[in-house]
Amino acid sequence: MRRIAKWVGIAVLGLLLVASIGVGGAVLVAKRAMARVHQVPDEPLAIGSKPEVIEEGRRLLAARGCAECHGADLGGGVVLDDPALGSLYAPNITLGRGSVVEGFRDADWVRAIRHGVKRDGRPIVIMPANEYYFLSDRDLSAIIAFAKTAAPVDRELPPHRIKPLLYVLTALEVFPLLAANSIDHAAPREAVSEPEATKEYGRYLAKVQCQGCHGEGLGGGPPPGAPASLPVPANLTPDEATGIGKWTEADFVRALREGRRPDGRELDPFMPWKNFRNLDETELHALWAYVRSVPAKPFGSR
Ligand code: HEC
Ligand code: HEC
Repeated sequence: MRRIAKWVGIAVLGLLLVASIGVGGAVLVAKRAMARVHQVPDEPLAIGSKPEVIEEGRRLLAARGCAECHGADLGGGVVLDDPALGSLYAPNITLGRGSVVEGFRDADWVRAIRHGVKRDGRPIVIMPANEYYFLSDRDLSAIIAFAKTAAPVDRELPPHRIKPLLYVLTALEVFPLLAANSIDHAAPREAVSEPEATKEYGRYLAKVQCQGCHGEGLGGGPPPGAPASLPVPANLTPDEATGIGKWTEADFVRALREGRRPDGRELDPFMPWKNFRNLDETELHALWAYVRSVPAKPFGSR
């Protein structure tokens, strides 16, 4: 018995050793990925200063999701606070105490938002720059115009606390912590028209706002690597059985404005309808025109 116990003890110690080398290795891999330096050349973008542009920027900061992490006042806030993964904070992007944008040139704003890259070239954590890469010049310049002139907020956020599990998931590229490392920083960006209620403009909006969750073909199903605990994005194609083929435009608008399905059931708040409340009429019509135009596909086909 005692001998068996000894062997079991040695085996367990061995496993623990292998596991800790594995975790230690993963932490090293993830830390290296976080320290990767990207050389992204400055992209010229004219930033407006007219009051109507700044006002549009305020709306877009809410509609495109920035305010969800950085706060409606842009003073920053908690993005993730999980006992197993750790805590991540969106910084203060006003010019008050605790600001991380002091001395930012326009090109620094563009690089941070479209490329997910800080001034020193390192990746910005958790911010979905892979989607913002495709923001139109019009939208991005209005967002920056508003952010640059936002009232200063004094708020200092604590440093991020990253637990070993988050390092492991980052090393395995399961958790999308470092958008900059997966963006093709030289990928062509299609020219986007001025806002209009067309399916082409809707395709632009879907690319920056919907496809990350609902899939490129809008067929729904779990995004790759999504934990099983997260609600599963629905099928937005016109498939009658598993998609929204039977919905009217009014049903679609209610879902995005009020977070309710046609049968009255509320949508899980993981579907960011509280941001989408800030989409305007033109954007809603355009999105509807686009989701109507895509081929019907079964649920789960992404
Ligand atoms: C999912 C949450 C999230 C969303 C959405 C988000 N951000 Fe961020 N943002 C962050 C976090 C977290 C950081 C700090 C990352 C770090 O410390 O590496 C950051 C950093 C920044 C920075 C500072 C970059 C630097 O060089 O330090 C700017 C500017 C910024 N975000 C602007 C925006 C704008 C504009 C939007 C919307 C288009 C946006 N963010 C959307 C989480 C988010
Ligand atoms: C962060 C992930 C996420 C993003 C981004 C997102 N959705 Fe969703 N969406 C979901 C999830 C998850 C559900 C299912 C919610 C539930 O089960 O309650 C859903 C459900 C829906 C539904 C209800 C469909 C049904 O059959 O019940 C509609 C409509 C919808 N989304 C439209 C959109 C549109 C349009 C966009 C882009 C403007 C978008 N979503 C962006 C996650 C997302």
